[in-house]
Amino acid sequence: MTDELLRRVAAEHGTPTYVYDLGSVTRRHAALAAAFPGADIRYAVKANALGAILRHAVRLGMGAEALTAGELERVLRAGFPPDRVVLGGPGHTPALVERAVEVGIGLVSLDSRGAWELWRDTRGPARFVVRLNPGFDPHTHEHLATAAAYSKFGLPIAEAVAVADEVAASGRLAGFHVHAGSMLSDPEVAHLITAALEPLYQRFDGLDVVDFGGGYAVPDAPLTAFAEPLLAFARRFGVTPLIEPGRYLVAEAGVLLTTVLHVKRGGPVEHLVADAGMADLLRPALYGARHPVRVVGSESVREADPAAGDPVDLDGPLCENADRLGRDVGLVDVAPGALVAVGQAGAYGYAMASNYASSMRPAQVVVDGDTITLAARREEPSDVWRLEDPDATPEQALDAALARFARGTSGLDAVYDLFAEQLRAKVGSLEDMRRTFGNELYSPLVGSGTPVTLGMQVRGDVARAEVRATDGSVYLVSLARRDHGHQAGSWTITALARDVPGGS
Ligand code: LLP
Repeated sequence: MTDELLRRVAAEHGTPTYVYDLGSVTRRHAALAAAFPGADIRYAVKANALGAILRHAVRLGMGAEALTAGELERVLRAGFPPDRVVLGGPGHTPALVERAVEVGIGLVSLDSRGAWELWRDTRGPARFVVRLNPGFDPHTHEHLATAAAYSKFGLPIAEAVAVADEVAASGRLAGFHVHAGSMLSDPEVAHLITAALEPLYQRFDGLDVVDFGGGYAVPDAPLTAFAEPLLAFARRFGVTPLIEPGRYLVAEAGVLLTTVLHVKRGGPVEHLVADAGMADLLRPALYGARHPVRVVGSESVREADPAAGDPVDLDGPLCENADRLGRDVGLVDVAPGALVAVGQAGAYGYAMASNYASSMRPAQVVVDGDTITLAARREEPSDVWRLEDPDATPEQALDAALARFARGTSGLDAVYDLFAEQLRAKVGSLEDMRRTFGNELYSPLVGSGTPVTLGMQVRGDVARAEVRATDGSVYLVSLARRDHGHQAGSWTITALARDVPGGS
């Protein structure tokens, strides 16, 4: 992406902002497809689950690797065919299993016996790979070394065989899975993977896939050297190779644009304080990861020579010393207001961003040729507390109130507590309120199951709904959007009346 384009993005959308170049994703996909001919590529969506990126991956013909309920819903929403989704991860819940069965997920990676026990009695198209812990050192950061014996992933070989025996007996064993780690750059790891899988493919007949995981390092893992032993293994056993790359596809496509707010000099290290930090890009703080940084559109900034004694750190805006985008970043003569691009940020960047210190997560922009599209807006303050405000819409406010009514007396107490300020004037004490809702006019609403909303009309800041209690009687509910103390703009019930058919 050119400096001019990045400047336009910053001018139109502000900073911090993530910018992703879809053309780069296309090129990286082509490189993988060329290096792994015949392999089934399943994009590991944890790297970057932005809808625009997922839909692009669908257009490129990739399947997906997902692990949580959130990822599952996102890949379905983006249009990945369920039979091209592999559901992995070490922590399957009954709800996740139920949903995956319902939508017809094609392949599941079993990380434990417990996971198999959840899946064993399900019906549906899902077939299984058993994830092996191959117990070797994949030569990467400890947090990313999933193949290591001490890692929390997969099953040691004897247990993998035992679980696979049971899966095979059900007729649903498709193969085995090894994901050796992330940021893998030594192709020797590919030989270690095939050596670990060899006894399993010798032992089990009728397998049809082998899942080699992902993990190819950026910027330029030696793809062909990785692919050669993996593909040879798949050919030898007559199974389809699956790969699950995440970072390789999207890391290089993304930059995090940030503005330098202040420059502090005079100490042993010069500090550039930026408007993005660990809440936006956690990798430097968490893994000591080094992302390339550069000043956008500035020729005057020369590469610093750390040996020449001009260490410069690029810091974030939060009150924590780990809040850095880079140490010794090699930028000199940077002035406040400079626009900085942090590279290789398309993978595990926004994906691991948080609201720490009530930071608002950055905007996300995609670039396709020279078209700039806002793919996800920047968070605003109300996004930071939206989960605390169950009444952000009239539908939510009504549902929550009806659920409280349905709980009976304890629910009434909760209603009273919640709306005490507004209610006190109308209903007096809690005792008065209990009495009111105990009378024959309102009692069908309280404690007799959840009433049903029949319809709602919203006009600006007021709404009216019709609600049917479980005994069939109908109530009219008025709602209005009000400020409650420091919470702006949430909905509250202002009036409730029984609708007597034919009455006035
Ligand atoms: N398949 C499985 C089962 C995985 O666990 C992962 C990543 C991948 C595929 C994709 O790996 P990739 O090709 O993206 O390296 N947050 C860390 C990375 C954690 C990777 C977790 N698993 C980071 O920022 O470096």
